Amino acid sequence: MNGERNPGAGRRKFLQESAALGGAAALAGIMPSIALAQGAGKIKIGLMLPYTGTYAQLGVAITNGFKLAVQEAGGKLGGREVEYATVDDESEPAKAADNANKIVNRDKVDVLVGTVHSGVQMGMVKIARETGILHIIPNAGLGAATTQLCAPNIFRTSFANAQTTYPMGQVMAKKGHKTAVSITWRYAAGEEMVAGFKDSFTKGGGKVVKELWLPFPNVEFQALLTEIASLKPDAVFAFFAGGGAAKFLKDYQAAGLKGKIPLYGSGFLTDGILEAVGNAADGVETTLHYGDGIDTARDKAFRLAYAKTYKLNPDVYAVQGYDAGLLLAAGLKAVKGDIGKKKEIIAAMEKAQIDSPRGKWTMSKGHNPVQDFYLRKVVGQENKVVSVAMKALDYPPAALCKMSR
Ligand code: PHB
Repeated sequence: MNGERNPGAGRRKFLQESAALGGAAALAGIMPSIALAQGAGKIKIGLMLPYTGTYAQLGVAITNGFKLAVQEAGGKLGGREVEYATVDDESEPAKAADNANKIVNRDKVDVLVGTVHSGVQMGMVKIARETGILHIIPNAGLGAATTQLCAPNIFRTSFANAQTTYPMGQVMAKKGHKTAVSITWRYAAGEEMVAGFKDSFTKGGGKVVKELWLPFPNVEFQALLTEIASLKPDAVFAFFAGGGAAKFLKDYQAAGLKGKIPLYGSGFLTDGILEAVGNAADGVETTLHYGDGIDTARDKAFRLAYAKTYKLNPDVYAVQGYDAGLLLAAGLKAVKGDIGKKKEIIAAMEKAQIDSPRGKWTMSKGHNPVQDFYLRKVVGQENKVVSVAMKALDYPPAALCKMSR
């Protein structure tokens, strides 16, 4: 049987090889017993993303970006038509392993793409390591996914949380800020974002005088904003995203802090939400691997195609989804769509140089993008790129990944 007549065969081979490579055990019960003729020849992509809750629009942008890349490749990957299975993960860590398990073993996808939330990502990484499924992370910055918990079959097209904030701490210190208060959600992403910022801010002579936390996805900021007003730090560092970021920016302004205590963050604070916040974000400076006005032909073409297709402006999440599509296309092209050729797919994905709207990037040894970080400033409805804050940043270092092959 070949992959065309028996689409399950390649997937089985991939899972078997993966399990052997990764040393994973429990394959029993997860392999499809009979390959279905229905959908023969198609590559099945599982999209496990948030489609409800505070990160809903992030999940939609990633989906749009991924599908645009497939559409631009003629609707095919490695010469094979593409079909999708979708699950709304609700940014709910408690349901993560179960949801991932279902999409891999019940829906029998060939590739697992997701997710946004680092807590949910933990459950997905667990299932990816157990089953060996080819897994692409299009957002969640969980550091361990590409360091301590790295694996040959796990790739990321976005960032590590601390990678996005390490440049910000340096920028803030260089501006001469001596004291800062951090404010974020208490979960893996918030903790890692603060750690990255704190690392470079303290190296630059700054001091974090207070860390303020809320449970995810709580947006009752009032008491904490009052505390910031009384602490009077030189600067505030924040990580919020999606609906929560929009609410935070509006509350910061309403509390009278805008223009008084400068606000900084990773670019998630201001990406994809500027239309919703009026002038509340004006002047906020952030660091991120994408921004407005990158002005390359590649970026312009992407933005035009995205706007035409979805009647929306793309944001960083759309770019990460798009790049997940580009990365998978590179992997499957190398094997002409034969998903069973795991080693070759992984090798092609490892050496792919992604010609991204954000600028070209390469894969670290831990399978996280080594990429430039821009300093951006909100001007009107744009996250205007001001400068490159750090070039080709690998952080936390991929050397923390000990991958057994
Ligand atoms: C995460 O949970 O890793 C996360 C979520 C939203 C972002 C960035 C990181 O915008």
